[in-house]
Amino acid sequence: MSSRPWRSVALAVLMIAVVGGIVVVASGLWSVLWGDDGSRIEGLSEEVPWEQAIVVPTVAPPTTQPPEPVFDLAQHSTSDPASPWVIVNKQHPIATGYEPADLVDVDGARVRAAVEPDLRAMVEAAGVDGARLVVRSGYRSYTEQAGARAAVEARRGFAHAERYSARPGFSEHQTGLAVDVDSGSQPSCNLQTCFTRTAEGAWLAERAWEFGFVVRYTEQNTAVTGYAPEGWHLRWVGRELTGHLHAEGIGSLEEALGVSGGPEYAAG
Ligand code: DAL
Ligand code: ZN
Repeated sequence: MSSRPWRSVALAVLMIAVVGGIVVVASGLWSVLWGDDGSRIEGLSEEVPWEQAIVVPTVAPPTTQPPEPVFDLAQHSTSDPASPWVIVNKQHPIATGYEPADLVDVDGARVRAAVEPDLRAMVEAAGVDGARLVVRSGYRSYTEQAGARAAVEARRGFAHAERYSARPGFSEHQTGLAVDVDSGSQPSCNLQTCFTRTAEGAWLAERAWEFGFVVRYTEQNTAVTGYAPEGWHLRWVGRELTGHLHAEGIGSLEEALGVSGGPEYAAG
């Protein structure tokens, strides 16, 4: 038996301190490697794909909508006679010998192939609404326009003809993109000012744009186009452009496309 009991006490205290130290160090290491809840910490194990270790910053969603694309008014030529947006007026003649290569027949009138589906769809839609559109004429060659103009001049005189009938080489009927329509409900107004007051004229003024057509000569655009109102004379330019004209409230092709016009003929 030892005569110094304090030595046993000191030894016991030392052992407790050593064992306690080992426990503290081991538990610290455990929580570093495995986390407090026992799961492995991301990034320390080869079993965790490296992508998961990357913190991806959150990108805030845009607070405003992207701007509407600007309508491209230069996407088609206004001077090429084969262009859907060609402008033919008293300032901009069409080549004497031009004839479209793709004329098709619609109810006895010749039009460019691109016009046909919209023309047929428009006549059908008008009919559903009780407006009886009758296709009267479409393409006219230079020679045919010369005959039409001469007939108007002979019947009504030069001044009247200047307001209602283009000189040959200046009519958009030569493009194959213009169509004259009659009124099925009031034939006495065919080619007359009162056409705009028929069911057909009113329907066209309201809805022709939906089918890619504009009523080319109106009361509002006479100074720009150089012609008296002709509610029956339609010009096809396609639905994209007529949708733009409608949305923006633009009253003539000249204004929309920035092309000169007016009542004076270009010096020739
Ligand atoms: N009536 C239109 C202006 C033409 O003759 O082309
Ligand atoms: Zn016409």
